[in-house]
Order: sequence, then structure tokens, then C-alpha cells
Amino acid sequence: MKTIKNIAVLTSGGDAPGMNAGIRAVVRTGIYNNLNVFGVRRGYDGLVKGEIVPMDAKSVANIIQRGGTILKTARSEEFKSYEGRKQAYENIKKLGIDALIVIGGDGTFTGASKFIEEFDVPILGMPGTIDNDLAGTDFTIGYDTAINTVVDAVDKIRDTAESHDRVFVIEVMGRDSGLIALRSGISTGAEAVLIPELNVDYDAIMKRLDKSRKNKSSRIIIVAEGDKEGGEVVADKIKENFPHYDVRLSILGHIQRGGRPSCMDRVLASRLGVASVEGLLEGRRGEMAGLICGQVQFTPFNKAIKHIDKINENLTRIVEILSL
Ligand code: F6P
Repeated sequence: MKTIKNIAVLTSGGDAPGMNAGIRAVVRTGIYNNLNVFGVRRGYDGLVKGEIVPMDAKSVANIIQRGGTILKTARSEEFKSYEGRKQAYENIKKLGIDALIVIGGDGTFTGASKFIEEFDVPILGMPGTIDNDLAGTDFTIGYDTAINTVVDAVDKIRDTAESHDRVFVIEVMGRDSGLIALRSGISTGAEAVLIPELNVDYDAIMKRLDKSRKNKSSRIIIVAEGDKEGGEVVADKIKENFPHYDVRLSILGHIQRGGRPSCMDRVLASRLGVASVEGLLEGRRGEMAGLICGQVQFTPFNKAIKHIDKINENLTRIVEILSL
């Protein structure tokens, strides 16, 4: 096995709060271990275009508390082609980069797996996405901050809903996953949560809404962006069933992706950054570092991208029981 002397770090896919803490941890752990560390700008796009810069301890000073990613990020089309990946390989060879650490979600790890397969580059991953839709880690970097942003926003909407006796349908992020919806729904006392992983029994939801009327004057329905119907259709269905309800739709959008990372995301990113560099030096490849029950564990990329087991149906039961 070739000794690793030079590594590069990149962030890819949607930005997530805590990515900067992850970059900082990789750069400083690399330097601590006498490695040269490079930063790739704009994810795999920067790898293809050769936007690769040396990083030192100072270049990551004062970033642990910042949202977004100082390296910038992208969803690269070019890296999806063999020619793009070949160009990326030539760029890292030119600089003598022996290994990569990629921070992102399922698209990031799918790209990394292809790159390893074709060019045998040692790569480890860190889970960076607000969606929490990766197996092999209880939580992804950015999820905790995002759900707290959602909770803050829904609490504010609840004030208006309560003051005007309204029903609010609130659409939250999660293209393929209902994990943001589920947790934020429980913690804001939502009357119902609709997620892509589970089929919705509309009749049951309508009955629940009607029943809960005697106990409360405002009702909140959280809908994940990836839900089969989506917020707009759900709001229309409620209006149709209950023409006398004052129904509003609120789509939270990208506000959920930004902001200062929570303490939990900073610690998670720091732990996984250290573990990833150490993992590379121990000879690990093609795996994602995650945290399971408080312990760092490595999961092969092809298993990490399957998140479906993370939906705990008991949580949807909790929403129902507590929505009386
Ligand atoms: O992957 C994270 C995520 O926030 C999804 O929940 C959402 O669907 C998507 O990114 C939006 O991506 P973009 O910012 O590219 O529109």
C-alpha cells in the first residue's frame, strides 16, 4: 500500500451547516499527522477543472461557527462522465494527491465509488447533508441545525395560526426523506406529518384534524418536500374537506440549509473529520465515517446511501398519539 503524504478535502451536493467544522478538522488533523492538505473548490466540479488549493492551519481559522462551506459546493454534471473523472484523476496526480476526503450525501458517495473503481484512488467520506438520509450514522452533519431552524420557524408560524384560528400546512426540505419532517413535527406538536417513505391515509388525517378541533384552535401539518403529493396538494385537500377552515401554506425552503451550526453539528463534524484522516492513514478506503450510538464507525459507501431503515414508525405513532 502506497504511503499517504498528500490529501485533499472537498464538499459536494447541497451545503449543510457544520461542513466548515468538518473541513477544519480534516485540515488540522492532516497537518497534525505531517500531511500536506489541499482543498478542492466547488466539489467534484473543482476536481475536474483543477481548482485545488493548498490549505494550512490558518486557512481554516475562525470557520467552525460559520454555515455553508468555505470550499463552496456543486452538483457536478461533468464528474458523472468517464471523461470528467479521468480529467479529475489527472489533476490530482499532477499535484501528487494520494487520497481524498469527500463531505456530502448520497450523490457524493456514488461519485466517489465510481472514482475508486476506475482509478483506484483512496477515498473516505463524511456525511454532510441536512436530510439525514444516510445509513451508517445516527445523524448527518447539518441535520441537527436544520431541524432546529425548522422548529424555530414553525413555532413562529404557530403564533399566527393560534391567533387567527388557522390550519397551516408547512412544507419542509427532504427530497427523498421524511426525517426532517418527522422530528420537527414531533417537537412542534404538529397534528400530522406526511413523509415520502410512508403511504398517507388521508381519511385518518382528516378525521384527526376534525377531532382535534375541540381541543385546539390552530393545527399544523408538516409535509416533507418529497412527499408524493407535496404541500400545495395537501393544503387544497384540506380546504376541499373543510371549506370553513382558514388554511394557509408555508414553504420554508432554503432558509433550512443556512445558519450557524449547532454545537451538536460542530462536535459531530470535528469527530468525523479526525476519524476520516486517521482512517485513511490506517488503510481504510471506500467508506463513510459515521457515529452510531456515540461511537465512530465506518460503513461502505454502497451501504451508506441506503437510508430507508432510518424511518422509525414509532415516531409517526407518537405524532398521532400526541395530536389529540
Ligand atoms: O439534499 C439536501 C436538500 O436540501 C434537499 O432536501 C432538497 O431537496 C435539495 O437539497 C434542494 O437542492 P437545491 O438547493 O439544489 O435546489
